[in-house]
Amino acid sequence: MPINEKEIAVLYYLVAARLCISVCNSSHSRKINSANKYAFVSENQAWALLQQWLRINPIAAENSFRSAIGLPVEIPQSVDSLIKARHKVISPILALSYSRPIHMTKAAFQYMYDACGNTYLDAYNNIPHVGHSHPQVVAAAQGQIAKLNTNTRYLYDLLTEYAERLLARFPDSLNKVYFVNSGSAASDLAIRLARAHTGFKNLMVIEHGYHGNTQMGVDISDYKFGAKAGPGQKDHILKAAIPDTYRGKYNADNAGKMYAREAIEQVKHSDSPVAAFISEPILGCAGQVPLAQGYLKEIYPAIRKQGGVCISDEVQTGFGRLGEYFWGYEAQAVVPDIIILGKPMGNGHPLGAVITTTEIAESFGKGVEFFSSFGGNPVSCAIGLAVLAVIEAENLPENTRLVGEFYKAQFINLQNEFPCIGDVRGTGLFIGVEIVKNNDSLEPDSVLANLIKNELRNRHILISTDGPFDSVLKTKPPLCFTKANAQQVTDQIYGILKKLN
Ligand SMILES: Cc1ncc(COP(=O)(O)O)c(C=O)c1O
Repeated sequence: MPINEKEIAVLYYLVAARLCISVCNSSHSRKINSANKYAFVSENQAWALLQQWLRINPIAAENSFRSAIGLPVEIPQSVDSLIKARHKVISPILALSYSRPIHMTKAAFQYMYDACGNTYLDAYNNIPHVGHSHPQVVAAAQGQIAKLNTNTRYLYDLLTEYAERLLARFPDSLNKVYFVNSGSAASDLAIRLARAHTGFKNLMVIEHGYHGNTQMGVDISDYKFGAKAGPGQKDHILKAAIPDTYRGKYNADNAGKMYAREAIEQVKHSDSPVAAFISEPILGCAGQVPLAQGYLKEIYPAIRKQGGVCISDEVQTGFGRLGEYFWGYEAQAVVPDIIILGKPMGNGHPLGAVITTTEIAESFGKGVEFFSSFGGNPVSCAIGLAVLAVIEAENLPENTRLVGEFYKAQFINLQNEFPCIGDVRGTGLFIGVEIVKNNDSLEPDSVLANLIKNELRNRHILISTDGPFDSVLKTKPPLCFTKANAQQVTDQIYGILKKLN
């Protein structure tokens, strides 16, 4: 029976399915009769092959099967023609990554597959938190969308169930949740809550911080309002200096305290009290800059004393990304009054939330009804629950801690060899590597940072650059990233820098 084209198209997946059946059979056999070693003799090899299989782009596999039986291989559309078509209908204000943008077709766990048959190691995307297309999350979405998808004006079990499961991850004081569809919507709502509770308008933000794309998001994000083409700082916004121990003016042990005291002085001189102080625990768009130790411990009481509330934006740092800490604020030993969640929460499904206290929720409850058409719908809740379940079942925070420590150590090894690496910072799988002209001067080298990023892309590894000088390599991969993946990234950077020297 000659194999036909339709069979060729599914062969890659059938091989994977066969391997999955094999590991399930082995596991089951071991459970019912562990003495029968023959039943699971091939288990380790099957797992190894599955891992290997993931690294093969399904298009590359199909093309090699096709050419093996003399069929023509599929030629992808040119990237130039795709860009042209895109720009006819989508404004170029929506930027594309890399000098040579990539036409992605599929992704699985920490790998992404382009239309040419290449596999990319994803060392950058933090939204597919538990891994691209994680089967448990996909099944939850597919199962629920076929049953019921409606809004919070009806009673359905998943809303309460998800709210309970999520809130169980927070201290008792944080016991109310509002579901929305993005980090931006969550930031917007968080500010509304703070203003409703305090009656004040002024807001304190941190230099280079980013909280969202809505009008409110831009108003509170120096990354946007302070950018070259940005609209500028509004009168009711107070901007605190970024408590950065690398580039900042304080780099001693008491930097957190010193920066906080400066910010508190600003608050004292404000025309009216501050409704909210908002910060990310590690400022992502600023170039993965962690708040100096002790900063929040000093500033939170001062903000509360003058009648304001404290907001932690955990959109980037939450859900175990920092390994040791499930939420970023824990690293500073404080408890915020309001928390903003997004990105990783739905593993790519648009899901965001605001978490707060009973008291703040009661103040907000005195105003107009809050309603979000999609926020907290049953499909989103099913997905959110699946993400939490996978984080727990696969012990991802622990993997993040172990792989993150290894990854950071590899970067520090590079720093010891190459003077262009000025700083290596971050926690867990949220790391920033500052590229400088030489590490005595701290002069940022955005040209080299971008060269490394693009060269890595050519070597099929995805990372990004950011920061006020676009000189920081950012890496924040899905949490299923392995030590071998981490080694691959740093080996390739080593190769790139060695070639330049
Ligand atoms: C810290 C932080 N807050 C909020 C947002 C906004 O989230 P979204 O893009 O889902 O609106 C982002 C997005 O990058 C972010 O990094």
